Amino acid sequence: MARTAPTRRRDSVARSNGCGTLIAAFLLLLASLPALAETRLERGRYLVETIAACGNCHTPQGPNGPLPGKALAGNQVIEDNPAFRAVASNITPDRRTGIGAWTDAQIARAIREGIRPDGSVIGPPMPIAWYRDLADEDVAAMVAYLRSIPAVANVSEKSTYRMPLPPNYGPPVGRVVAPPRSDMVRYGAYLAGPVGHCMECHTPFGAPGQRDLERLGVGGQPFEGPWGVSVAANITPGRATGLGGWSDAEIERAIRRGVSQDGRQLFPPMPFGHYARISTPDMAALIAYLRSLPPVER
Ligand code: HEC
Ligand code: HEC
Repeated sequence: MARTAPTRRRDSVARSNGCGTLIAAFLLLLASLPALAETRLERGRYLVETIAACGNCHTPQGPNGPLPGKALAGNQVIEDNPAFRAVASNITPDRRTGIGAWTDAQIARAIREGIRPDGSVIGPPMPIAWYRDLADEDVAAMVAYLRSIPAVANVSEKSTYRMPLPPNYGPPVGRVVAPPRSDMVRYGAYLAGPVGHCMECHTPFGAPGQRDLERLGVGGQPFEGPWGVSVAANITPGRATGLGGWSDAEIERAIRRGVSQDGRQLFPPMPFGHYARISTPDMAALIAYLRSLPPVER
């Protein structure tokens, strides 16, 4: 019911007032302008700072949130468990402690293939399996943005993996093109997987270290932190335990502001602060994709 309301409102404006239609058309045009004029650098800033939320791992956190002046400067412990102690690296352009001495191609390869210039393999939880499907244009935009941010000298502790890392995450990535934005469900799948890795947190493990792609979006993984333990929600359209009974506005509020349907404030590590500024078309695509998943109860 709530979802048909905006359409009705638009109809009545058109009927009662041609001027309203013109204004609406003008506003629509304005809304689409930034996207048209977006440079590679702006695209990179948008991706890294909003939906990809690289800073959710790579920016060190204090008790009051991200440490000032340390954006993307690493040395942030992400997981400390029997199998590994993962510390997110400094990805600012500092030549000594960050990635300033790497070429664009080397940075792109690190993000998409998980291989550093010295040949070593980047370990979990950096979501390489998803980043392999980042479009050429989007990974180039991310690299352009990472080059533009302030270099911060900050030595990052090396991660310790007490389990073998794979020799690689697959064959070299060739050319990758993003699905067309006009195909909302497919573009939404691209945003929720390769770009935003929503599905990394929201999909349970099957075989050790492998996400159970048959249960995409069903949730269930516990995340421990200063907040206690939060459990990744079921974001399939399951009516009892998922988002089946939620309106689009309720889903959007949960993603942007971290408020659940019943008004409860959601806990980290979902990066609501970054998601607040996801663009309107991207939010619509994300929601269209979530609604297209098979409804599963947990
Ligand atoms: C879920 C946490 C997480 C997210 C999200 C994440 N990373 Fe990482 N990243 C890591 C960890 C942990 C490492 C270090 C792994 C290791 O030590 O092998 C890492 C390593 C890297 C490296 C290698 C740097 C070096 O000096 O070794 C690059 C480059 C990188 N990340 C870029 C990115 C970018 C760009 C994004 C966003 C598109 C991103 N990461 C998102 C956790 C994350
Ligand atoms: C780093 C892990 C992580 C990432 C990335 C993440 N989420 Fe979440 N998400 C969670 C956790 C954990 C919760 C539950 C928090 C709680 O219950 O306090 C949650 C809750 C939600 C909820 C609220 C559901 C409910 O029942 O309250 C929605 C909707 C959601 N996520 C959608 C998304 C979407 C869409 C994305 C990508 C744009 C995303 N999440 C990315 C971990 C994550």
